[in-house]
Amino acid sequence: MKRLFLSACALLALASPASASDDPLAPTGRWSANTDGNAPTPPMGWNSWNAFNSDVDEVKVLASAEALVDKGLARLGYRYVNIDDGWWLKRRQPDGRMLIRTSHFPSAKTGRNPSFRPLTDRLHAMGLKAGIYSDIGRNSCGQIYTPDFKNQPEGSVAEREVGLYGHVDKDIRLYFAEWNFDYIKVDACGIRGLPEDAPRVRSGLYRTLNPLVDMASLGGSDVAGVRKLYEEVGAALKTRAAGRDYVFSLCLWGAGDVRTWGKDVGNLSRTSDDIQPVWARMLTNLDTVTHRALYAHPGSWNDPDMLFVGTGDFDQAHLVEARSHFTLWAMLNAPLIIGYDLRKLTPELLAIFGNADLVALNQDPAGNQAVLAYDSDDVQTFVKTLASGDKAVALFNRSAVPMKVVLTAEQLKMLADADIRLRDLWSKQERSFRKELPLELAPHETLVFRASGTRRLPNGLYLSEQPGAVNPAEDGIPMPQADPTIHHSVTPWTSTRGPGDHPQYGGWGGAEPDRAPYGLPLRIAGTAFDTGIGVLANSRLEVRNTGFSTFTAMVGVNDTGRRQQGAVTFEVWGDGKLLTRSPAKAFGDPAEPLRANIVGIRIVELVTRDSTGKTAPQPASWADAAFTR
Ligand code: GAL
Repeated sequence: MKRLFLSACALLALASPASASDDPLAPTGRWSANTDGNAPTPPMGWNSWNAFNSDVDEVKVLASAEALVDKGLARLGYRYVNIDDGWWLKRRQPDGRMLIRTSHFPSAKTGRNPSFRPLTDRLHAMGLKAGIYSDIGRNSCGQIYTPDFKNQPEGSVAEREVGLYGHVDKDIRLYFAEWNFDYIKVDACGIRGLPEDAPRVRSGLYRTLNPLVDMASLGGSDVAGVRKLYEEVGAALKTRAAGRDYVFSLCLWGAGDVRTWGKDVGNLSRTSDDIQPVWARMLTNLDTVTHRALYAHPGSWNDPDMLFVGTGDFDQAHLVEARSHFTLWAMLNAPLIIGYDLRKLTPELLAIFGNADLVALNQDPAGNQAVLAYDSDDVQTFVKTLASGDKAVALFNRSAVPMKVVLTAEQLKMLADADIRLRDLWSKQERSFRKELPLELAPHETLVFRASGTRRLPNGLYLSEQPGAVNPAEDGIPMPQADPTIHHSVTPWTSTRGPGDHPQYGGWGGAEPDRAPYGLPLRIAGTAFDTGIGVLANSRLEVRNTGFSTFTAMVGVNDTGRRQQGAVTFEVWGDGKLLTRSPAKAFGDPAEPLRANIVGIRIVELVTRDSTGKTAPQPASWADAAFTR
């Protein structure tokens, strides 16, 4: 990796794709984030967990499915009806077939081999899709962590091993080929909570499974091991759900360094522990995705957990909060999975789930997660670039007091001296402004607008306007650290016992649109840039080119780097061939213009190499990076 001064021979080697084996920075000419399965836009639907915990049954599932159809939500795109923890009875011995709790799912009583097929047939006949739940270990979350859990699996130790571990192919075949499910959420408690000395192992309830993930320690996690297990499920899905749409949802809560690899394996990947119907907890979950816009793409979404609209701090008496939660999830391309007993749906709650303008933002085909245009502990402004070139903008008051805020044309990357038209997606009122617009936000309120004006870059897109097309295949982080900016809330599972809950790995130090890593400003040798991609050196970004002809950027070491540290070279590759590269740029060197012809190229790769190697890479900025026609 120390290629600061390249010999002619090394340059030749760079001119063709190097073997990917020993150099993670070697361009491959391909898009490596997951595109298997069927999630071109974030999945939408309903899940039993937030509404019913493990006390799930067929009546409840069907009632919510019917409500999705009757209330017009299915037509808007809410089509997955997902059964979470609590459906299983046992794993039959000796053949290992999974049995359903037929007392709760009577339509599954189909003779010797109970089957969910009647239920999935019924859901499919309603125009819906069906989802099921499992665990990557031998045992489930309810079995390991919850003493008073309803519907615990029954029987012997082997019969109570309901998770996928050791049964991946057989179970996936059963769930997809035989029972015809379309979606699976794979939890991970079974590879987390059963060390030899766990009380429930000692008491003989469960077999030990040496933990592969330690929520509090990356060093204590077997990252390659856990990834391999999830990849096995992905491979089984490709075979057993072949030719069918399917969705593979990873539920590792940000542990096991899933922040780097989840996007390569599943269609959605949880970034945090469970959401609760509590304002502060919603903030925590939100914060785990806000700096990760570049890690979400069609086919591989960030998942800050399901919606809690309708309950607790987001109930009928807290519609401001409920609208904020929904708006933020829509803007950030979170899966819109309703977690509410839809039998209780009121017109006000329906108006939230059924806000077609917000659903359209979430389902916009460009797949760009909103980018933080303004950030503070009190107010945040998120901007999302839509396929049409319009923008959506949300101004979010995190605080419990009213806030005066300003939206600027710059934040929308629009010209300040031309009209910008805004449509309020809650009130549906229209207005326009130039330069900047003062606004007021009530406590916890989010204003959200669709904006059209004259774009600063009329003949192209900045790369930070298309995070859905940029994949940090290598983001240069030498050692992931928990993100200290994530809101620390009191969790219901520990209350204020112990030292407090620590977030998992979030997006700390990763690649960011319009910011340097760690959420810091983009600035090269004293010149500030409000546009670009910030990343650590020793990184490789894959960028999909959808018909643009020129790449341009101003590159250099970001001013958040260190004078004493190494110099960085910036390389631009097109479909595996070197197009151009910068001289070595040291800290304090002025930004260097880079330009490359990308006509006909499908994948552009942006590679940075730091002469000091891997341990303390400089922040490397692709400022003003853009594709133009
Ligand atoms: C948790 C998961 C929740 C829910 C629960 C079921 O690990 O994050 O979303 O599925 O398990 O026990």
